[in-house]
Amino acid sequence: MKTFYVTTPIYYANSLPHMGHLYTTVVADFLTRHHRQRGFETYFLTGTDEHGTNIERASAKAGRTPREHVDYIVGELQKMFGEFGLDTEHGGYDIFMRTTEPFHYEGAAEFWRRAAERETPKGRENIYKGFYEGWFCAPCATFKTEGELLPAAEEGGNPLCPIHERPVDKVSEESYFFRLSDYEDALLELYESRPDFVRPEVRRNEVAALVRGGLEDVSISRLKSSVSWAIPVPGDPSHTVYIWFDALINYITALGWGSESRRAEAGDLFEKFWPGLHILGKDILRQHAVLWPAMLMAAGVELPRGVVAHGLWLDQTGRKGSKTLGNALELPVLRRHFQTDAVRYFLLREMSFGQDCKVDYEVILERANSDLASGLGNLVSRTLTMIHKYFDGVIPSPDISEPKRLLAKRAGVDSDALELASGLELLRDQFVQYVEELAFHRALEAAWAMIARVDKFISDAKPWELAKNEEQRETLGAVLYRAAETIRWLAVLLHPVMPESTRAMWRQLGLEGDPKDTDPTELEWGGLRAGARAGEVAALFPRIDKAKTMADIEKEMAERKASTEAETPTPLSAAAPSGAHATQAATPGSPAAEDAKPARPPQQGATEAQPAAQAQDAQGTAEGVAYITIDDFVKVELRVGQVLTAERIPKSDKLLRFTVDLGEPEPRQILAGIAEHYEPDSLVGRKLVIVSNLKPRKLRGFESQGMVLAASVGEEGRPVLATFAEDVPNGTRLK
Ligand code: MSP
Repeated sequence: MKTFYVTTPIYYANSLPHMGHLYTTVVADFLTRHHRQRGFETYFLTGTDEHGTNIERASAKAGRTPREHVDYIVGELQKMFGEFGLDTEHGGYDIFMRTTEPFHYEGAAEFWRRAAERETPKGRENIYKGFYEGWFCAPCATFKTEGELLPAAEEGGNPLCPIHERPVDKVSEESYFFRLSDYEDALLELYESRPDFVRPEVRRNEVAALVRGGLEDVSISRLKSSVSWAIPVPGDPSHTVYIWFDALINYITALGWGSESRRAEAGDLFEKFWPGLHILGKDILRQHAVLWPAMLMAAGVELPRGVVAHGLWLDQTGRKGSKTLGNALELPVLRRHFQTDAVRYFLLREMSFGQDCKVDYEVILERANSDLASGLGNLVSRTLTMIHKYFDGVIPSPDISEPKRLLAKRAGVDSDALELASGLELLRDQFVQYVEELAFHRALEAAWAMIARVDKFISDAKPWELAKNEEQRETLGAVLYRAAETIRWLAVLLHPVMPESTRAMWRQLGLEGDPKDTDPTELEWGGLRAGARAGEVAALFPRIDKAKTMADIEKEMAERKASTEAETPTPLSAAAPSGAHATQAATPGSPAAEDAKPARPPQQGATEAQPAAQAQDAQGTAEGVAYITIDDFVKVELRVGQVLTAERIPKSDKLLRFTVDLGEPEPRQILAGIAEHYEPDSLVGRKLVIVSNLKPRKLRGFESQGMVLAASVGEEGRPVLATFAEDVPNGTRLK
């Protein structure tokens, strides 16, 4: 039997999921259902990534042990996925994988051992011991990236922690490294020989360029004293496995690779389903398209079928939607105000797969009303209502007898239905082809073009007029049959997008069984049986009252915001995490962001003895407010600057390069470490606050002639740019 294995990333179990997470899971769920309809035996994996410092921190903050915390998040996540029909009970995922499963520990350890005993393509050991060096802030108990640090206070001194504004220490820690650098040629050969390995093509080119630019070895362990909530390194319990190394392996341990206990429980899933298709956001493509295949080569395991990266959901200002930024659409809100199938449809229809897409609640609402209430829903209800009204709920015959053909033709109805049938066949083939190409939005566009076509066919034929003329009874029946048969085809094609609504369509047509059991590639014209009794008509997608719903959502969001703010501890000093601070090279370390970078060594670590949050609070209380005089303050020159251009810096995830107009003869070049939170294009034209007399400094080969001011929000220091509510001339001084 043909098999199809699809995975989502396993989500960090430190906070609840948002629309971005829902999206990847819906895409995987859609692909699973579509393949199942086509006769594939499918396996669908989603789950949680449960180790590491972030989880330890989040659990400490919530007053739970890491185990309690991940169990809590997993419970909530599963509940949420269930509400969106994505769990096993609703025909969704087959496994909710957790990296804390004992069988995963077993498999991950086996994977490490296999990699360690084998050699790289260049004949060297895959895993070796070395030293990881980084900047460490003792009060934060955290490693800081080069980019996020402030410049040293004096010539030749160490850079400063952006939170405590005191010099950080260079600390070196023993670590195991994976020799990724030996896999450059093998990876390039992989992208070359299997052009479909990374999709879409634009991402494949990016990944290949990255590898061509050279790969560094990856630090894949931390001292247990730095990160204790993680899998122990086999044979060296003083080290724990770096979370990305651990997490990626889940895709095969879930299938029983390397674990006798999993095999005993689930059978030979690995032999049956591997290699699989990985679906993920482009934000974590490198880990999946570079590190993961290299790891598999190292351990001698077959490579995945492919890695597919989708774009990101952005807010209306172009920033990536995220929990930290608080700008992602919330699942409970979506759930409360929209039908699940409407959300699923929206996700698959709105985003051109592979590209980023802006979203807010209003866009979803408008699409639900136009495409679903007025489009599909209206077609179904008008067709079925007329079948009930004119034919007592019995599906009429499609045929038009010889003597009535001319009359039918006058009403625009072909007696052989050839045109419509061939239009549907074309739709069927295109739909399936687009799904293969992962162009879901195109598949749905094609389906909606058919809805519009049949709608027009009905309006042109005017069944309500035909009904007044007994001579046209056959024509009337033929019109309604054609519309109803089209609905049957749509129910089959759209079933993986809208499982529940298509079942309702099926029932309303009076069909037996379930659209899930019809293979879309086998749809043939005429499957609907004339003479059968139609089911009851009920509105599939009731129209949403825009003004009322938007007002409700806004109120709810304001309440949610207020309750989250109330939970956030007030900063104890001006230097505490939520206070305003300057960001020049990078944002203060976002743990999630750093976890997302395996090409460089991990850089976070809170000691068990002193978690970061506590350390900062202690600092604030102990030192109180450190006053400065007005003379100190006037030394800092703050000016209004307007962004003229903004772009990313090659090979840097964090840095943006701006040219800024400060009212001077020439614009200045300024670098800011906000690339993970702002899209460059969204900033052009914005007026910002610039520290204009800061000593110029070189970052990644570019001179930064000033510093952009941003608030640093939350524990992870999300930057929010300072700006003006009123227009201010460029170069104006702030006092
Ligand atoms: N734990 C890692 C993945 C390990 S896989 C072996 C991780 N987790 S995550 O919780 O941050 O989820 C990442 C995934 O969520 C992204 O790849 C993407 O699929 C999805 N999204 C998160 N935010 C998103 C948007 N704003 N838009 C679209 N999807 C995004 O990374």
